[in-house]
Amino acid sequence: MKDLITKLPKAELHLHIEGSLEPELMFSLAQKNTISLPYKTIEEVKQAYNFTSLQSFLDIYYAGANVLINESDFFDLTWAYLLRCHAQNICHTEIFFDPQTHTSRGIAFKTVIDGITKALQKGEQELGISSFLIMCFLRHLSEENAFETLKASLPFKDKIIGVGLDSSEVGHPPSKFQRLFVECKKVGYKIVAHAGEEGDSSYIWEAINLLQVERIDHGIRCDEDESLVKLLIEKQIPLTVCPLSNVKLRAVKNMQEHNILKLLRQGVLVTVNSDDPAYFGGYVNENYEAICDNLDLSKEELKTLASNSFKASFLSDERKKHFINQISQY
Ligand code: HPA
Ligand code: ZN
Repeated sequence: MKDLITKLPKAELHLHIEGSLEPELMFSLAQKNTISLPYKTIEEVKQAYNFTSLQSFLDIYYAGANVLINESDFFDLTWAYLLRCHAQNICHTEIFFDPQTHTSRGIAFKTVIDGITKALQKGEQELGISSFLIMCFLRHLSEENAFETLKASLPFKDKIIGVGLDSSEVGHPPSKFQRLFVECKKVGYKIVAHAGEEGDSSYIWEAINLLQVERIDHGIRCDEDESLVKLLIEKQIPLTVCPLSNVKLRAVKNMQEHNILKLLRQGVLVTVNSDDPAYFGGYVNENYEAICDNLDLSKEELKTLASNSFKASFLSDERKKHFINQISQY
């Protein structure tokens, strides 16, 4: 299985670029930019990654992002992630970034997006990895702040394929941003949203009905509501599931109890992703390995998950077919 996981071409559809900041890079950027970190050693950083909830993670994740200052920092961050993709046979990736995490510290939108997109271009040219960029709004901030961020994105619209919604879920339902997402749709952005990670199934309903999402990020709490699962199957609305993240943040008790295989067998278009790999103990392949080790997944089901990652992507039908055809030959 491990060999097949490595060899299969895969797409990643749920990756926060700030969440790919490995402790080693965090330390070297902190030193270069003279930012003080609350940790003395890399070992100490790793010990702090003992999360009890989404919020306990977010507090550390936002603190870590403080070391990102210059365009070259965003470039280095993204390039390091792309090298990991290359090593894991990830041929296509759709990357989230959180502009508000940086603009709130006085970093220009342009600095962030130029650094990331220069690395993505190099990744396409030198590693053959295609990519899209998805701008996420922080849902714990105001609607007004999100509208300002949408406006700031417009000069870079050609570099952004879509918008998403992340950060602290409970208490910040999709309905809070309904008007914003109507505007985003007018701009031509594709729409996704985190829903049903810690929030209940009503958050997923709202993301579908009020935000008109094309994919749900996480969405694992859908199985609380049979009629919702039925809709996801009927409309083939993809879920970008992140198994290691779910266990680390205690959205799921342990990997044996993860519902990804159950949903797959019911006909839900589930995909496997890493979310914040530097914080949750693994990139895409480690997520596949974790479910294979703990759930009774067949080789055919593994191939279906890899095919789903392309099917659920924003690639052209032609590119999707190309990869899905490759997978079928294993
Ligand atoms: N959920 C919400 N916000 C996030 C996450 C997540 O899993 N990762 C980074 N920001
Ligand atoms: Zn996420």
